Amino acid sequence: MTYARIIGTGSYLPEKVLSNAEIAERIDTSDEWIVARTGISARHIAAEQEKTSDLALAASQRAIAAAGIDKADIDLIIVATSTPDMIFPSAACILQDKLGVPGCPAFDVQAVCAGFIYALSTANAYIRSGMARTALVVGAEIFSRILDWNDRSTCVLFGDGAGAVILQASEQPGILGVTLQADGRYQSILNVPAQVASGEIVGTPFLHMDGGAVFKFAVKALADCASKTLAAQGMSHADLDWLVPHQANVRIIESTAKHLHLSMDKVVLTLPQQGNTSAASIPLALDAAVRDGRIQPGHTVMLEGIGGGFAWGAVLLTM
Ligand code: ACO
Repeated sequence: MTYARIIGTGSYLPEKVLSNAEIAERIDTSDEWIVARTGISARHIAAEQEKTSDLALAASQRAIAAAGIDKADIDLIIVATSTPDMIFPSAACILQDKLGVPGCPAFDVQAVCAGFIYALSTANAYIRSGMARTALVVGAEIFSRILDWNDRSTCVLFGDGAGAVILQASEQPGILGVTLQADGRYQSILNVPAQVASGEIVGTPFLHMDGGAVFKFAVKALADCASKTLAAQGMSHADLDWLVPHQANVRIIESTAKHLHLSMDKVVLTLPQQGNTSAASIPLALDAAVRDGRIQPGHTVMLEGIGGGFAWGAVLLTM
């Protein structure tokens, strides 16, 4: 049986770090409030000339090096992003050009903070069906450009970054199970309600969020999704070595861990220094834990994400 296995990870964070204290100099908030309500202390912000595809490129190059593959072996590129360089072409096509690997299929997946889970699941399906052998799957975002920096209820939450994995066909177990879900009835609790029409921006091009509604929805959806994904494999929480959750809010993450009976030292947390990087947060956290040796070959890992749409899902895998 052919599995899709992660054989290399990589990530990239822009150089500029923005602390809570710096935000508090500009708007009515405080480090204490942000840390207590979200768990976030700082986030990285892309430089003016940096594009989402640049962040994706740096993360991809590190994942390719970690996997030890020739970049010419890549036969599928999927980028999860809600903040692409432009309306079209896709960030994946621009990334493909920057990487210098023309020819293979390349496309974006837009599922906001669940984007990496959707992209990884799609690449898994390509590999399992024999349509691809070596996929580059990236989550990359510059959310700092869709925030209203005067709205203290949203601007303190997000940051910029990119993470990538190389997923390859293997006879050894890799991705074991996938759950993907969406419910468009909840579109209004988290969105960027704007479009470009007739040469103008129509609507409000800033992130809008009903924080309380998002919180309630996320906690329940993630708990149900985790249970469903484990049960489908005949596994239980006791089989998990690591949870790598989307980094939205430490209280959402703690509640998911509690539901899975996992202590927080089995949960990879990058949120304090990175904030919520949307589709990039899961591969950023995965790469951090692989590189510092916490996640080892053979470990059973659950990746879980949720975001606007609402869209959410989980991937259960053996590293
Ligand atoms: N600094 C200081 N005060 C603030 C700030 C801030 N940055 N933001 C809001 N407040 C104030 C509000 O104005 C309000 O004041 P009021 O009582 O005088 O009206 C007070 O704090 C309480 O506001 P709430 O919104 O009720 O605060 P809450 O405890 O719910 O925390 C938060 C807000 C952190 C956004 C929370 O609802 C949350 O985490 N929700 C989940 C949202 C999330 O994770 N979003 C990420 C994107 S979605 C995703 O990735 C899944």
